[in-house]
Amino acid sequence: MEKQKVVYLDNAATTQLSTEAYKEMLEAYNSVYGNASALYKLGRDADELLAKARQRVAKAIGASPSEIFFTSGGTEANNWAIKGIARANRDKGNHIITSVIEHPSVLESCKALEREGFKVTYIPVDEFGVIKYSEIVKAIGPDTILISIMSANNEVGTIQPIKAIAELAKANKVIFHTDAVQAIGAIDINVKDIGIDALSLSGHKFYGPKGVGALYVKKGVKIDNLIDGGKQERGKRAGTENVPAIVGMGKAIEEITENIEENNKQLRSIRRYFLKQISDLIHNISLNGHPTQRLQNNASVAFEGAEGEAILMMLDREGIYVSTGSACASGSLEPSHVLLAMGKDIETAASTVRFTFSKFTTKEDIDYVVAKLKKIVKKLRSISAIRIYKNKVEI
Ligand SMILES: Cc1ncc(COP(=O)(O)O)c(C=O)c1O
Repeated sequence: MEKQKVVYLDNAATTQLSTEAYKEMLEAYNSVYGNASALYKLGRDADELLAKARQRVAKAIGASPSEIFFTSGGTEANNWAIKGIARANRDKGNHIITSVIEHPSVLESCKALEREGFKVTYIPVDEFGVIKYSEIVKAIGPDTILISIMSANNEVGTIQPIKAIAELAKANKVIFHTDAVQAIGAIDINVKDIGIDALSLSGHKFYGPKGVGALYVKKGVKIDNLIDGGKQERGKRAGTENVPAIVGMGKAIEEITENIEENNKQLRSIRRYFLKQISDLIHNISLNGHPTQRLQNNASVAFEGAEGEAILMMLDREGIYVSTGSACASGSLEPSHVLLAMGKDIETAASTVRFTFSKFTTKEDIDYVVAKLKKIVKKLRSISAIRIYKNKVEI
């Protein structure tokens, strides 16, 4: 039997591991298996690997190594940043500002804080998914201690004006955190130049391994410990470190941030090619997100009169992997909170499919996907009750 072609277009959910990162991880697994806290050479070697990875992560975002804390991923980094900073600064106030389109790890952390008595303002977005800056200005008050706004959105790829928000926060003596999980490697982020006080990142979104991430906390910013125990991560996040995963993340972030422009050029060309192909071949589609202020690897497309989940399942049978909304929300058939916040109706949200490309995506992959997509959308539209009812979508 001929092997089925596989096209992976869900790179906002996770990415394939970089070969170089994998090699360094293998070396760490096989040869440097000591506990990084141990005093003998095998332990010191592991500790050195941690130091090197910390340096690489710090360099990638313009921080100093002592400001980097390793975590189990983006979710943990976001939970820690929001809860840890809010609780440690409660004496200064109890108000937090975030946006309606944040990742659930930010939104649920804020909800947990609300149950503790904190007040949270959720800033709305415009039709392109850009946070309404003027609403942040209005929301800031004497009790505001933290603003948390993502650098780029995971569902529609819109890049947020984080420099302006960081400046506003600084002018009001408010701590600024950004969830940069989708932005690392896609946009150049220097925490000092932008004025970021805390930043979350996650290894598996930039060709590193899963289950590892980091939180940058600017020197002087007060944050509660996440896990009490030993002295790992300067006593703030205790527990034996996952050295191979941290090593892999360090290599991956070095590779990706050294090649941002080149990668973006390639992704832009793939994205344009994809959009041209689908708009030539499939009618009645619309794009979600900002036309220019956006990640180049993301195309969020609504196929009017066809259901996103059905498209996903039919593509799956052809070896093509995409997503509807965010991976974290899949499994639930709830319409995307991001698309609804952008003013999209439920039908548009339900007919949206997210295609996210990687440095491995080729034009041949796109040709294959678009050919399959054309047939699938046509078929789904021909049996769509909504289309028949409205009697308008051209198939
Ligand atoms: C914007 C954003 N923040 C946080 C996360 C969570 O990261 P992790 O999967 O490492 O927990 C994700 C993952 O989808 C994300 O897209």
